[in-house]
This record gives sequence, C-alpha cells and structure tokens, in this order.
Amino acid sequence: MSADVVVVGAGIIGAAVAWRAAQAGLTVTVLDPAPGSGATHAAAGMLAPAAEAWFGEADATRLGLAAVAAWDGFAIDLAAATGSDGGLRGSGALLVAYDADDAAQLRRILALHDRWELGSAELSVAEARRTEPLLGPRVSGAAWLAPDRSADPRTTTAALLTALEADARVSVVRRAADRLLTQAGCVVGVLDDDGGEHRAGTVVLAAGWRSAALVADLPGVPVPVRPVRGQTLRLDAALGEAPSHVVRGIVQGRPIYVVPREPGSDGRREVVVGATSDEGPDDGRPTAGGAFALLRDARALLPALDEAALVEITSRARPGSPDNAPLVGPTDVPGLVLATGHHRNGILLAPITAEAVVAHLVGAPMPDAMAAADPRRFTPLHATTRSLS
Ligand code: GLY
Repeated sequence: MSADVVVVGAGIIGAAVAWRAAQAGLTVTVLDPAPGSGATHAAAGMLAPAAEAWFGEADATRLGLAAVAAWDGFAIDLAAATGSDGGLRGSGALLVAYDADDAAQLRRILALHDRWELGSAELSVAEARRTEPLLGPRVSGAAWLAPDRSADPRTTTAALLTALEADARVSVVRRAADRLLTQAGCVVGVLDDDGGEHRAGTVVLAAGWRSAALVADLPGVPVPVRPVRGQTLRLDAALGEAPSHVVRGIVQGRPIYVVPREPGSDGRREVVVGATSDEGPDDGRPTAGGAFALLRDARALLPALDEAALVEITSRARPGSPDNAPLVGPTDVPGLVLATGHHRNGILLAPITAEAVVAHLVGAPMPDAMAAADPRRFTPLHATTRSLS
C-alpha cells in the first residue's frame, strides 16, 4: 500500500509533521518503534528564542521568533483536536546571574538582544526577586526575556499521537526504518526493520540524529547531524519549593535552566532542570557528575528546590548540526524531505517545521524564516552558488 507521505520518526517533530500533513488531507504512514522516546522525552520544553539567541546566529534567532509565534495556533488546534494544548504556558522568562562575572556576561547578552530588538530588559535584583521571590541570596544580576515561553514536550507528543491514531488517513507503524527505498534516483519509500515496505510520494526524515545514517548511502544528500547528549532532571515540588516562571541562569559561566509546569490542585508541580551538553553517545545513561552539576547550579539560584523530590534523571541526544540551525525542507533527491538537526530547539521549532514541511508537500511557499534551515546549504554546489550570489 502506498501513502502520500512516510514520516520517519515520531518525536515531537515527526509527530507534528504527520499531524499537520493529515490535516491537509494527505495520507500518512509514521514509522517509529517507540514514539516520543528520543530527545523529546528529555526536553524541558523551553520555547526560548531569546535565551537561546547567540552571537553570530541572527538567522536562527529570527527563525526562533517566528517559531514561538507559531506555537499559539498550534496549541489552539491541538486543543480543538485532542483537548490538550500541549501545556503551553506563560509569557517571558527570567535570566539571572550568580556572581559578578556572570552579571557581566548577562549584560553582554542583553547588548546582543538590544541589537536584535528582542525586547529583553535588565532588572534590578530587587525587581527580579519581586517577580520570583524564591531567588537565592547570591543572585547578582537579572533580566526579563519577553519572547520566551514553555510547553510540555511529553504532553504535546502524547496529544499528537492520540490525534494521529484517531485519524483514518494515518497509519502509525511501531517499527524502525532500516533503509530508504530508491528508484531511478528518487526516494520512493522506506523499508522497516521487519522487512515491511512503506511506499510513498515523499519520505520525510525526522529521526533526529539517527537521520544521518539513513541517507549515508545516498549520494548528494549531506545530512551532517550528530548526537549531542543532554541530561535533564525532573523534580516533584510542593508549593513554595519551585519558581513559578522559567528561570535561565548563568552560574560561574555555566548555563542552567529551571522550567516549572502549571501546578496541580494540590499546589505540587513538575519542575525540569537542564541541561548538560556533551558529544557523548546516546546511551540513555545519565552520569552522576551531570546530575550533580545540574543540582548544584539550580540550587545556587533557587535554594528551595532542595526540598523537592528528585523523581527522574533522563539522558538523550539532541540532533546537532554544524551551524546549530535545523535542516528542514526538500533535498536534491526527489521524494526526500528533511526535518532534523533541531539541536537545542526541537520543541520550539516543531510547529513551524510542520507548517514548512506541509507547505512544501502541498506546493505552497514555506515560511520565509525557514530559508536559514534549507538542507541544501550543506551540498557543496549549493554552498558555492550561495556564496557567489
Ligand atoms: N533546549 C535546551 C536544551 O537542549 O538543553
């Protein structure tokens, strides 16, 4: 049987692409042995175009700003389809600095935000404490990052899977992709690890860092994504133990974030602390040193977290790319579309990635901000043409 689209991978990216494709009237096969269990499972869910903005990455920041705006419509549509808005919450996040050197770095970051007109504003420590009374005594500088928000990646992906499984146009196959099927230079489907053939007009590769291996034998499609391991902690916090805003911190030069969810009726809430970042293997094995470092830096900023229950330590690998921007859109091989390389921003970029891929599938223009994510920037001929133009 043939579908319009096969989506390889059902993390938040693949699941969002499949859902929007089915909504556009396309028939979709989704292949994943364990949907939502990769990088999505570890992610805290920061939608943080400002906090993740970095020197030299202006295009990625523009994409992030467009992406955070796309979350509103996505959450509304998801709620209409499933009753869940993916835990989308809040407007703005606190950025706090621990010592004097961290405060100097915070001001360098704010100067960048000013140049890019992100709407961030420096706060006095007293103002920051009024916003977030649980900030510890050693905080030495603060800012408000207006564009940033958060969502719950696990809730979002579960809702997307519910919607996919209820849709007659969608078939969710719990198998891994073994290889791409090609014919006359075109990708025409996927062979799964049980020998099942899934033919389609277009294959969308959304398998995170594993996408690279699936195209390794395909000439002319460089997909330079690699695993960048990250560890997150989940705490179960009572009232008075957790912040009510997303807190980003710099502690003696190290980045840290604390993402609280909406509290339940008993006042308890999940709090995610993240994240380590290293080029280690995606072995799912958290390290003692990683967990220690996250707790040390989180409690330096928010000492009341000491009282919360530590309920989970998760290690997964993000799909990193050479320029930290994703690879989204058509390749030079007909029938093959990429949706990978989202690195630290997979949750933020899921709705706009789905919008862009489905626009391509139905022959509509992709969002302008996605130009920075064109996968063909890594093809030598395209790279040369771009640098000459
Ligand atoms: N989104 C932040 C991270 O990947 O740790």
